[in-house]
Amino acid sequence: MTTDATVLDGLDFPTPSLAVSDDVADLLFREARSVGAFTAQDVTDEQLAAVYDLVKWGPTALNTIPLRLLVVRTPEARARLAAHMNEGNRERVLAAPVSLVLAADPGFHKHIPTLAPHMAGLSDALDPQLETRQQMARTNALLQAGYLLVGLRAAGLDAGPMGGMDAAGIDAEFFAENGWQSLFVVNVGHREGAGTHHPRAPRHTFADVAQTV
Ligand SMILES: Cc1cc2nc3c(=O)[nH]c(=O)nc-3n(C[C@H](O)[C@H](O)[C@H](O)COP(=O)(O)O)c2cc1C
Repeated sequence: MTTDATVLDGLDFPTPSLAVSDDVADLLFREARSVGAFTAQDVTDEQLAAVYDLVKWGPTALNTIPLRLLVVRTPEARARLAAHMNEGNRERVLAAPVSLVLAADPGFHKHIPTLAPHMAGLSDALDPQLETRQQMARTNALLQAGYLLVGLRAAGLDAGPMGGMDAAGIDAEFFAENGWQSLFVVNVGHREGAGTHHPRAPRHTFADVAQTV
C-alpha cells in the first residue's frame, strides 16, 4: 500500500510490534479516513453480509450481540432518512452508494437462551428491566459498531460515520414496530480521491490517555 504523504505528513507513528503486516495496519487504521465523498461504485448486500459475518465474532457482554442494521438503499428510503439528518449530513446520505443505520435492540434478551445458553434464565429476569436492557444494548451495540467500521475497511470499503441526526425521529420513522434505537449512520462505499478535505487530525498518544498503577 502506498503512503499518502499529504495525509501522513507531520504525524509521528511509533514503530509498533504488530502481529499483522504494516499494509494491514495501514488499511485498517493509519491510512483509513472518515469518508464524505464516494465514487459511484456500488456496494452490494453480499459485501455487507460478508463484513457482518466477520465482525459478528467481536465480543459482547454475555454474547448479547445487540447491534442491528438498517440498510438504506432505495431513493425513497434515503429521502426518509435524510429528512432526519442534520443539515451538513443530509446531502451525504442522498449521495452515498448505501447508508447503514446502526441501532441497538433492547429486545436482545429474547435471544439469550440461544446465544448464551448457560445464562438462559437471564432472559426472563431482564424482561421487566427495560432501562437496564437499553443500557446493555447501547453499550454493546456501540462496541459492535466499532468492529463494523474496522470490518468495512478490512473488506476494502470506506465508511463515513455520522452522529449528527435526530435519533428519536429516525426511531419513529423506521423502528416504531421493532423498538430498535438508532446509534449513528454510516455511509459506505469507495472513497473519491482522499474522500475528505479535512487534513488528518492528530490523536492522543498512549502517554496522554493511559495511567499505569
Ligand atoms: C460515532 C461518530 C459520529 C460522527 N458524526 C459525524 C457527523 O455527524 N458529521 C461529520 O461530518 N462527521 C462525523 N464523524 C466523523 C468524525 O469527525 C471523524 O471520524 C473524526 O474526525 C476522525 O476523522 P478521520 O477518521 O478521517 O481521521 C463521526 C464519527 C463517529 C465515529
